[in-house]
Amino acid sequence: MSDLVKLTIEGHEVEAPAGTSILEAAKLVGILIPHYCYHPALPVAGSCRMCLVEVEKSPKPQPACATPITPGMVVRVASDVARAARRAVLEFLLINHPLDCPICDQAGECELQDYTHEEGRAAGRYADYPKRYNPVEDFGPDVLYVPNRCILCTRCVRFMENVAQEPTLNVSERGDRARIGVFPGAALDHPWAGNVVDLCPVGSLLSKDFLNKARVWDLDKTASVCGGCTQGCNITLETRDNAVVRVKPRPNMAVNRWFICDEGRLGYAWLNRADRIEAPLVREGGRLVPVEWEVALARAAELVGAGDGPAVGLVSPGASCEALEAAARVLAARGEGSAGAFRVRQGPERPLAGVPDLALRAERAPNVAGALAAGFGRDWDAAVARARAAGLVLVLDESLAGLAEPVTDGALLYIGTVLPETARGAVVILPCTNVAEEEGSFVNLRGLRQRYAQARTPPGMARPAAWILDAILAALPARAARAGGRA
Ligand code: FES
Repeated sequence: MSDLVKLTIEGHEVEAPAGTSILEAAKLVGILIPHYCYHPALPVAGSCRMCLVEVEKSPKPQPACATPITPGMVVRVASDVARAARRAVLEFLLINHPLDCPICDQAGECELQDYTHEEGRAAGRYADYPKRYNPVEDFGPDVLYVPNRCILCTRCVRFMENVAQEPTLNVSERGDRARIGVFPGAALDHPWAGNVVDLCPVGSLLSKDFLNKARVWDLDKTASVCGGCTQGCNITLETRDNAVVRVKPRPNMAVNRWFICDEGRLGYAWLNRADRIEAPLVREGGRLVPVEWEVALARAAELVGAGDGPAVGLVSPGASCEALEAAARVLAARGEGSAGAFRVRQGPERPLAGVPDLALRAERAPNVAGALAAGFGRDWDAAVARARAAGLVLVLDESLAGLAEPVTDGALLYIGTVLPETARGAVVILPCTNVAEEEGSFVNLRGLRQRYAQARTPPGMARPAAWILDAILAALPARAARAGGRA
């Protein structure tokens, strides 16, 4: 274990391992020293000078990100000397920065805006704004570069070089012409490239997907877990007017550090699908009729309770642990021989080279481990074959894509968000919520169970699948319910 070093920061006694920077040591006592080029995931560049602090006995202010702590060091963050130094840095940065906050996507979450507000000059002393580049450059599939706003912190360059380990970006030109460039023939199309937008402390690197979509202060933010693969990256779902409009990574050092891949970042449109089932439907006289929940649940319980042989479950590994466990209980209540299976969409594995054990995983579903733990198998084809002759088939948010119609000659109980053609022959159809509309949990490929929260209101009468399945269980005759684990 490394030796601990004692020092004083802004009057607070701090103890941190030798080699820690002043900036990181200050965080231990709740002091965030302003900074731009520094990011804990990247090698220290020490170039922006926004983190200047006063260090006793040092002849001039020191960059907190690049200065290791020493025993007995006395650091002042908010002294006149430190503030004057940072004010001057801000003034220099703003000479070349257009004041176009009203049309900039970053406004409201811009560190240049924030620090200028906190400790910058009230007015600039330069009449002219000299930087005049082409306003926007296309860097790749989802990234635009606005060179006029760039403060050349080089976080994006270092991310591509050290974390993605695919050097794509550079600092082109020198002096006041310096700007971020793309190497000839290259494009910013790495599967994790979108992280440069998050890393950019100003509005220079923008997501095309989010461009001019919303002011960030209009967004509600909800902690969630990405449903894109088995990695289980922590994300924030950002909603406006009840629609998910942006997905951002939520730092979790044990799972995804500060990052998410582009597939997870941009693959949220299905959460806002408009073609949802909005009411429970039951078959009456050959037609599907919308009914109240009580009626639908009673009919579903009737189907489950009917003693016409084992049931087959066809479930989605995108469902929550709670829903999958409840589905397993319903199948158990049906009686001996009832079982279920799931299938997983596959894709190429896309690792983020600089971060151990972080990748867009080949299995593109969030809860494969949860489905296995709930007792569902991977023997999909066998389950589909059994389903044909089964008395009851219970579908939990499975698209049934590619399956023959009808899926079964028996009764079909369909719980899902949308109604595929293959499920139109169902006896009971129950609308459930998607991951953005409910609380629940997924187990990732390392066995970590992670909770997600509700970000938007579900459409119509849709309810969480776990609630639906538990309600069916509660409506079952007592003996069958006991077999499913209810007293
Ligand atoms: Fe320290 Fe940029 S954050 S020099």
